[in-house]
Amino acid sequence: MNFKDIITDCYNQIKDIENEGHLAAYIPELANIDPEKFGVHITTMDQQGFGMGNALEKFSIQSIAKVLSLVLAYKLLGKKIWERVDVEPSGNAFNSLLQLEVENGIPRNPFINAGALVISDILVSELKHPKQDFLEFVKRISNNPNINYCSKIAESEKKVGYRNIALCNFIKSLGNINNEPDEVLDFYFNLCSLEMNCKELSELFLFLSNNGCCTYSKEEILTERQSKRINALMQTCGFYDESGEFAFEVGLPGKSGVGGGIVAVHPDQYTIAVWSPKLNKNGNSFKGMAFLEAFTTQTKLSIF
Ligand code: DON
Repeated sequence: MNFKDIITDCYNQIKDIENEGHLAAYIPELANIDPEKFGVHITTMDQQGFGMGNALEKFSIQSIAKVLSLVLAYKLLGKKIWERVDVEPSGNAFNSLLQLEVENGIPRNPFINAGALVISDILVSELKHPKQDFLEFVKRISNNPNINYCSKIAESEKKVGYRNIALCNFIKSLGNINNEPDEVLDFYFNLCSLEMNCKELSELFLFLSNNGCCTYSKEEILTERQSKRINALMQTCGFYDESGEFAFEVGLPGKSGVGGGIVAVHPDQYTIAVWSPKLNKNGNSFKGMAFLEAFTTQTKLSIF
């Protein structure tokens, strides 16, 4: 497969389409990003890579980081985590409070904000120095020391994070947050502020194409079964109320973030990351979705 030619073709095809999206202005710092940025990078199982556009420029990965916090919680506690968070698509917006009351504070899945807050609570309980230890874990699995939080983004979101503050307190009142909400929210906002570029992001997710095993160090990050389950969750819940559409149009497990990034995983083949900051009405990158649709159409490589 000539990924280089296909990516070049898809990139040029999508670059100039009319972008109907908008920046995630509800986080003030994200409103300052150049909306025209557009980058893409693929990394294959043999660690060959190819990128285009702004592939080497760091951006805020936001909700994509929820996969990494889930991976660490799963690694530490195993299937016990499913007692506190479910594995069903929510069919609702990523920041919705709607289902929590009737479902007794058990979030539908670990990728909606409610679920990621419960996973953050687990990590705050389990890790001695939660923010530092989590960051070390991310650096280790990506074999990359140049990954960090962005305090400017974390502080910017914290200042206006009324919805997440409400969610965390609400779940606490329903008995599914053990630590103080302030501590859990501080971890969560930092988690979402992680920055990397498309190249780093595609390299970081390669272990999920490789049955949970780090392609660089050969360390088993997750067992094969666990890795399969993370991919299943990305497939069914990775794009919130647009997860069905992403499966329908693109056909790969993936995860989006309101920074405009999307990472998608083809088991045993490659990982691909796209960044374009303008989002569609469901909070997913408009051009990122369009690019990946063109890419899996041209390569005929989807999991279906
Ligand atoms: O909590 C929030 O609202 C953001 N930090 C993350 C949301 C997000 O990325 C949703 N993804 N499309």
